[in-house]
Amino acid sequence: MRLVPAPATPALFGVDATSAQLYWNAQPGGVTVETLAGHSATYDDAFGVAVVEGLAPGKDHAIVVRSGSGERVLNAHTLPALEGPPLYRFATMNDLHIGAQGFGATKRIRDPQMGSEAWLHCAQRGLETALAWGAQAIVLKGDIVHRAEEPEWEALEELVASADVPVYLLRGNHEAYAERPKATERWFPQLAEGSTAPVQVVDVPSLRLVLADTTVAGTHTGSVAAIADELLGAVDTPTPVMVLHHHHLGELPFPTHYPKGIHGRDVTRLLREVRKANPNVMFASGHTHRHRRRTRHGVTLAELGSPGDHPGTWCGYSVHSNGISQSAWRIDDPAAAQWSHRASRALLGAWAYWAPGRLEDRCFNVQWR
Ligand SMILES: [Fe+2]
Ligand SMILES: [Fe+2]
Repeated sequence: MRLVPAPATPALFGVDATSAQLYWNAQPGGVTVETLAGHSATYDDAFGVAVVEGLAPGKDHAIVVRSGSGERVLNAHTLPALEGPPLYRFATMNDLHIGAQGFGATKRIRDPQMGSEAWLHCAQRGLETALAWGAQAIVLKGDIVHRAEEPEWEALEELVASADVPVYLLRGNHEAYAERPKATERWFPQLAEGSTAPVQVVDVPSLRLVLADTTVAGTHTGSVAAIADELLGAVDTPTPVMVLHHHHLGELPFPTHYPKGIHGRDVTRLLREVRKANPNVMFASGHTHRHRRRTRHGVTLAELGSPGDHPGTWCGYSVHSNGISQSAWRIDDPAAAQWSHRASRALLGAWAYWAPGRLEDRCFNVQWR
């Protein structure tokens, strides 16, 4: 049941410096997409996603979308170009929840065609698209499996094996609570690229990736207390740093929304110390299944949505000498687009507005100082 009406589509979803992504729902005859620069393409599916490429950076672009319900002109403002071509590209997904049976507060929202395969399908499609985009590494940052049962790990094994680039895995609460740490300890070393230490450093061109395990074994809770010293050591470098982790960070002593992340003085202390150690650090988390961007103590904090529910996203990062560019993209597959629309009914339809955030939460540049 949906009490809150879904946003009108076709609509713009994502941009980077040279492309824009739009999506549409329930357009029985499909859509035609045109730009003033002569781009024209027709899509037959009632639910779908399209990418318009070859746009000039940092400019407004009118995209005309025609469907059975009329004509809409979307304005896509591309991100400004960072310096030179990308020196490195990597992609992330979080909250894949492979093996989940349903979505929403009662878990009753299901895909009539894909059933429990919907989450795996979206993860596979997200991974394929990220690789085709040119990701040189993939980071899966927690809640990768849902119940951490054998078939879910086997599906993950196949997913990881399908990538021809390093795949780094981070634990989320779904790998950490109840009896799950045992299964995680058994599977992670087999599947994860590199070590599975609580703080892992991966140096790539012009950037240090710091993979931080914020889980607490046996619980859904997250914490930075146990890893703070190691984390501070890892960010203390002349190179810009991206810290990837599962639980989101909040400075208030209590959670302001569900699910509970990591809160309070530990977070404030950590961010202040991080800023002192290195002025060029960005954090990106999952867990909330929604897109959000904030700046605290000079540190950019991004939260990312899940590929498997609404809006159904993977995220690409382009590393440049003077900054990093984040763009979240919807899974570009008609079946995934239809499932994502169905999943947007969660919280009586409010999830359709809560989870995607604003365009500037999903797609932005961080310029290094
Ligand atoms: Fe999750
Ligand atoms: Fe989580």
